[in-house]
Amino acid sequence: MRIIKAKDYDDMSRKAANIMASVITLDPSCTLGLATGSTPIGLYKNLIAAYENGNLDFSKVHSINLDEYKGLSGDNDQSYRYFMNANLFDHVNIDKNKTYVPNGLEEDSDKACADYNEIIRSVGGIDIQLLGIGGNGHIGFNEPGEAFEKETHCVDLTESTIKANARFFESMYEVPKQAYTMGIKNIMAAKKILLVATGSAKADALYKSLYGPITPNVPASILQLHQDVTVVADEDALSLIKEKGLL
Ligand code: F6R
Repeated sequence: MRIIKAKDYDDMSRKAANIMASVITLDPSCTLGLATGSTPIGLYKNLIAAYENGNLDFSKVHSINLDEYKGLSGDNDQSYRYFMNANLFDHVNIDKNKTYVPNGLEEDSDKACADYNEIIRSVGGIDIQLLGIGGNGHIGFNEPGEAFEKETHCVDLTESTIKANARFFESMYEVPKQAYTMGIKNIMAAKKILLVATGSAKADALYKSLYGPITPNVPASILQLHQDVTVVADEDALSLIKEKGLL
């Protein structure tokens, strides 16, 4: 596992974008595993800038996103499809037919998940999987306690996640109650993992994930067993690891 120290959010975004850009440059028809959330927005801005400067070509790239709310269409501004279009796809020359997000409108969960696993296989697997991390160590929507051996599956969102997301919706009742997420098994099958973390709210999760016991109670701790993980984190996110004298 490589840990790359960044000064702050902008530095983290730049450094992580450079890693992702190098994967695209070396293999223009690679498959990117992508994440939503606030952490990767700066990284995506850097990729857009590299495209605008003529340094990156997305025309042959495939992408696979980690997760999507069940019940939301891509037109809903809270859907992860909408997020990806707004924060990356609409600004680069990626072919949207080669970008995949779980189908939130598929009501049959077994079908939605089996279809998504098949898509991942059909593009030849994921070359680099970008991950953010939850304050409790979650990756994708794999919350503490989720079995490591799962592929794409449907999760019931916890009461606290529903409450936390309620601010983005008209009312709490409109917040989706379920989501489709790639499982830990899909994530671990990616050739490379790039985990980004910023801010002191992630310090405890990062310390437990990188140096604590490997346990489903801290989903990201499984990454210790992956052979090619790069963590790009800023000083605040690395503060506890540093305090423990591990860095
Ligand atoms: C996003 C995802 C989540 C986030 C995590 C961190 O697709 O699956 O696991 O990566 O919740 O979110 P932020 O970056 O908003 O702190």
